Amino acid sequence: ARRLLGRRNLVFVGLMGAGKSAVGRLVAQGLNIPFVDSDHEIERVSRMSVPELFQAYGEPEFRALEARVIKRLLKTGPRVLSTGGGAFINEETRALVLRSGFSVWLKADLDVLWERVSKRDSRPLLKTENPRATLSKLLDIRYPIYAAADLTVQSRDVPKEAIAAEVIASLA
Ligand code: S3P
Repeated sequence: ARRLLGRRNLVFVGLMGAGKSAVGRLVAQGLNIPFVDSDHEIERVSRMSVPELFQAYGEPEFRALEARVIKRLLKTGPRVLSTGGGAFINEETRALVLRSGFSVWLKADLDVLWERVSKRDSRPLLKTENPRATLSKLLDIRYPIYAAADLTVQSRDVPKEAIAAEVIASLA
């Protein structure tokens, strides 16, 4: 798998709650390459949390910062890069990831996603009247776009170790 990557980043994309960070971290360990999470990197450089950034500057500014951070990260590798759910939806970021990285879509059903995201209150996009319906709408809009990723792995309701092993096996 490391030979397949060369100096490219292995980029996890998919909706919030799909397990991009948890699985990505394990895959990085398994491949013995560094792991970075774009949301954490954004928080580090801005010294603000994602909800604070949304609140203070709005979604467009967050998206611009996200695109810049990912563009910079993609220049060096190999590493595992897990991205925020909206990152790959940005056309420029998507083109860049497809050109210079190897992308994995962690695909999950609404029930699995909801089960995970409803446990935490950290997603500004889900601060709506009916967050489950919002998530469902995002799924409808975004799934055809995530489908452009190089590889799709179903993120089922099994331990993250099993999903990580499946990703690594698919890369071999
Ligand atoms: C977002 C997903 C979040 C975070 C922000 C926006 C999205 O990341 O970047 O809240 O647009 O789907 P996770 O996918 O890691 O939750």
